[in-house]
Amino acid sequence: MTFSKELIEEIRAAFPRAAADFNGRKRAFFDNGTATLVLDQAAQAETEARINWSANVGGIFDESKQASAAIHSGRVAVADFLNAPSPKSIVSGESATALLFNLSYAIGKELTGSENVVITDYEHYTNVDPWEELRKREKVQQVRYAQLNMEEGTLDINHLQELIDSNTKIVAISAASNMLGTKSSLEEIGKIAREVEAYFIVDAVHHIPHGPTDVQSLDCDFLVFSGYKLFSSHGSFLYGKEEHLNTLKPFKVKPAPKNPPGKFEWGTRNQAMFAAISGVIDHFRWLSSEVQANYVGKYTEYSEQKRDLKIAMDAIEQYETGLSKAVLTGFDDIPGLLEIPEVKVLGLTDINRISERDPTFSFEVANIPEEEVVTRLWKEGGIAARAGHYYSYAQDVYKKPKIIRISLVHYNTFEEISTFLKTLNKIIKNR
Ligand SMILES: Cc1ncc(COP(=O)(O)O)c(C=O)c1O
Repeated sequence: MTFSKELIEEIRAAFPRAAADFNGRKRAFFDNGTATLVLDQAAQAETEARINWSANVGGIFDESKQASAAIHSGRVAVADFLNAPSPKSIVSGESATALLFNLSYAIGKELTGSENVVITDYEHYTNVDPWEELRKREKVQQVRYAQLNMEEGTLDINHLQELIDSNTKIVAISAASNMLGTKSSLEEIGKIAREVEAYFIVDAVHHIPHGPTDVQSLDCDFLVFSGYKLFSSHGSFLYGKEEHLNTLKPFKVKPAPKNPPGKFEWGTRNQAMFAAISGVIDHFRWLSSEVQANYVGKYTEYSEQKRDLKIAMDAIEQYETGLSKAVLTGFDDIPGLLEIPEVKVLGLTDINRISERDPTFSFEVANIPEEEVVTRLWKEGGIAARAGHYYSYAQDVYKKPKIIRISLVHYNTFEEISTFLKTLNKIIKNR
């Protein structure tokens, strides 16, 4: 399914900076893997909460009651988005990094020092160092890294399976690599983790805007994502199975709540971030209403908001698959990344396996430095891309401290891809 011209225009209209930046400069925003653009509805809801409901929770006056209500609605919205059984299983925090460190400290208290953690060679460092810290403090013996099939940029699942044994207490995996775009086979990995009763932890920060995420069907123990990668404000959310949230003992100050989610939340909550994420969920519900006709009889096992959110994310996933194909194979008159001999894409390029990747592409251009490529893409084509290190462990594995990356989301268009490819082809020709 692709979005109609009218629908993509309406989607873009919901993002004040989709077409042009604050200077009015028209550009294609292809740096979404770093941070997505902000949805108007999310920013408005955030401002309303900041100005009108700025009071702290627990008071008898309206500003305080509204702050509590915004936090509760935000938790319900996130729970429905993830198909979590209850809003009580949604913890908020400053960032995914902060939430995973907090979680690692809490799990570390249960460990004896003889256990191991299994991660992969394509984790973001956010899902590396909380576990390496456990090793340094002798809470676990080893952090084991599952290898990649380097040529195709996928996870070597057999190696992952070999690394997991009865001493594995944590299997922590990203839903998709923020460098390669490859998605992990989370269902399969979850099964392997459960066989040894390890905590199965998912870093969904990169994948979250690209398709449906369902914590119950994944049967994961924890899953984390960040609002600024989902058209919202900074601040992140951690889903945890209630049984674990009840029994784990996070670091906390004494008077803070004894029960989840409050017991995992450091300091005062930010009602504005909950209001903002509710705005994003409303956008997805609107999108779902626009594409309903394609989903008659589908996702009927979910009710109301949950079903709408599944439909919206499914539609987004399908639209983005089309974008990925266009990036790789181009158009009738414009070669795609795969057809330009000077370009090497690091990651899955097999068109028959396109559904195994998100529209995030890291690539290099023979004989042209990365900085020059992104500078010329920007100046000559108005393409906002980046060359750098994205805190991905995979960059160290591939020995690519700097790499060009473009990452697309559902407000990006085929026209933008066409401009990008034309400009890139021109840069290569005219050097
Ligand atoms: C896969 C992944 N995990 C974690 C993070 C870090 O998230 P945060 O900035 O919320 O700590 C990122 C950010 O790029 C990411 O892509």
